[in-house]
Amino acid sequence: MMISKKLNTLLNEQIGHELAASHQYVAIATYFDQAALPVMAKHYYAQALEERDHAMRLVKLVLDSDGDLKIPAVPAPKMEFKNSLEAVQLALASELKVTAQISALVDQAIADKDHLSKNALEWFVNEQREEVTSATTLVQMTKRAGESGMFFVENFLQSGGLAEGEGGEAGAE
Ligand SMILES: [Fe+2]
Ligand SMILES: [Fe+2]
Repeated sequence: MMISKKLNTLLNEQIGHELAASHQYVAIATYFDQAALPVMAKHYYAQALEERDHAMRLVKLVLDSDGDLKIPAVPAPKMEFKNSLEAVQLALASELKVTAQISALVDQAIADKDHLSKNALEWFVNEQREEVTSATTLVQMTKRAGESGMFFVENFLQSGGLAEGEGGEAGAE
C-alpha cells in the first residue's frame, strides 16, 4: 500500500462527499428545471456530472495507490428550496465545505511526507478554487437580479459568462 491508513480512510470518505455533492447538484438542477429556468438547470446538471467525475478520480487514486477502497453510503440531498437564492447559496456552501475537506486531505499527505498523493491532490485544490469562484459569482448575480430577474442570470450563463478561467462548462481541466 502506497498511502497511509489515515489518508486511505480520508480518501474513501471524500469519495462519499463527492458523490453526495453530485446528488445535491442533481437536486438543485431539478429545482431550476421545475422553476422553468433551463439554463440554470443545465449548469447544475453539468456540475453533478463533474462531482461524479471527482469521485471517480479518487476511486482511481485509491486503486493506483494499492489502497483499500470502501465506497460509503450517500445521504439524501436537500430537495426543497424557497427560491433561487437559497439553491445557489447551498451550492456555494457545499463547495466551501468540500474545499475544507480537500485541504484536510492535502494536510494528511504532507504529514505522511507522501508527495505522490500530495501531487495528485493538487488537481482538486485548483478545481476547488475555480468552483468556489463560480459559485460565488452566481450567488452575487442571483442576489442582484432577484427572483424576477433570473432571466438575466440565465443569459449570463448562456453566453458562457462563467466559462473563462473556469473550464467547468466543457468539463475540461
Ligand atoms: Fe468535487
Ligand atoms: Fe464541486
